[in-house]
Amino acid sequence: MATKKKSVNRPKASTKVTPAKGKLGVMVVGLGAVATTMIAGVEAVRRGLAKPIGSLTQMGTIRLGKRTDNHSPLIKDFIPLADLNDVVFTGWDIFKDNVYESAAHAKVLDEKTLKQLKPYLQSIKPMPAVFDQYYVKRLHGTHVKKGKNKRDLAEQVIDDIKAFKKTVDRVVMIWTGSTEIFLEPTGVHQTIEAFEKGLENDDIGIPPSQIYAYAALSQGVPFANGAPNLTVDIPALVELSKKKEAPICGKDFKTGQTFMKTVLAPAFKARMLGVSGWFSTNILGNRDGEVLDEPESFKTKEESKLGSLEYIFQPDLYPDLYKNIYHKIRINYYPPRGDEKEAWDNIDIFGWLGYPMQIKVNFLCRDSILAAPVALDLVLFLDLAKRTPSLKGLGIQEWLSFYLKSPQTAEGLYPEHDLFIQSMKLKNTLRHIMGAELITHLGLEYYD
Ligand SMILES: NC(=O)c1ccc[n+]([C@@H]2O[C@H](COP(=O)([O-])OP(=O)(O)OC[C@H]3O[C@@H](n4cnc5c(N)ncnc54)[C@H](O)[C@@H]3O)[C@@H](O)[C@H]2O)c1
Repeated sequence: MATKKKSVNRPKASTKVTPAKGKLGVMVVGLGAVATTMIAGVEAVRRGLAKPIGSLTQMGTIRLGKRTDNHSPLIKDFIPLADLNDVVFTGWDIFKDNVYESAAHAKVLDEKTLKQLKPYLQSIKPMPAVFDQYYVKRLHGTHVKKGKNKRDLAEQVIDDIKAFKKTVDRVVMIWTGSTEIFLEPTGVHQTIEAFEKGLENDDIGIPPSQIYAYAALSQGVPFANGAPNLTVDIPALVELSKKKEAPICGKDFKTGQTFMKTVLAPAFKARMLGVSGWFSTNILGNRDGEVLDEPESFKTKEESKLGSLEYIFQPDLYPDLYKNIYHKIRINYYPPRGDEKEAWDNIDIFGWLGYPMQIKVNFLCRDSILAAPVALDLVLFLDLAKRTPSLKGLGIQEWLSFYLKSPQTAEGLYPEHDLFIQSMKLKNTLRHIMGAELITHLGLEYYD
């Protein structure tokens, strides 16, 4: 019989996290489909027009103590997160459209919803962006900053941050801009000094996303990356993040197909079922799809999407089951579907004595509807990390891997892609910072 005793499991260390007092300023790089869906969504929720579905920070609960305690408060009541009413948005884009115009162009939210929010959305106008077509071939930016070198451009972004900081209490930056071409780390990415020199010399290895990230981190501003770009995944910016106590996390929102993969693959592995092939294809018609139609941007996305299976299956540990997986990913630009992406997965698995089976997954999703709450949660959790003494100096916040296709880890650590391990890690991190008991799921005590 399970015990009914109520454990004393209230957080002991909550005073250690600085309260979320005042306004949280969110600086959004790239006011396209995902960003405008997030911003419009937050405003719709604030006005009571809709529910924040898909957002763990707004709807999720966290179990504290034993199962018999029946104590599962809302996450936002357990930890001091910024209230949505205190969130203030600003941002940059390479086009002049305000958030209303951009959202109307993206066609994710219906006209009725947008109309209700129109004056608010119109009031958010992008600042001129740092842009170079070399890094996103399909776009022709018209609303861009001019500078004598990349250092000068970084300084201009820093000025934008400083000006915004005067109007709010804390700031977080998130990249929801386009996917840049595939870049590999070079010498310029190894140390802060080399990076700063590279800014001065207009090093080709430094794309706009790194200029924004450098500007943010140098000002102690946490930075999240919704795209698969290299950005902060380099020693120089990891070092800067630690030095300035400006938290960072992995990259590329985990929303559609990869989200499904990191749910299914751990299930096959848990049951020791083999996999011989996994073919994933997508059709997508929004601007993101158009950018990804360009091979150099697609390569960046492909690398990010490919990683998860390799790590989850651990073929070195299980050569009989996963050594020879044929894993293929396709993204096809197909304008008629707009943001309503369709994804197909064919999975060839095998079971007892090697007998083959097949699984088909057909996900008719809405890309930005899935991504908007992920972007919001990342922003709110990074702000929390910045206010948490035991987290802010770590640089990489691995507990946020839950949201990302490419988790970022300490050097030498393999990334954890399994969604349920990631979810446990996130919740245990919240328990830890609030001084609550961690939950191991051992549960022997119920049978004493
Ligand atoms: N929607 C999803 O489910 C999802 C999932 C994972 C990753 N992502 C990534 O999120 C990003 C945004 O996706 P989206 O659907 O909103 O794309 P989008 O094309 O609608 O929006 C991107 C915006 O960024 C702007 N931009 C490009 N370069 C910029 C720069 N240097 N500075 C400022 N603005 C810039 C573009 O003008 C555009 O408005 C993409 O990189 C995409 O790959 C999206």
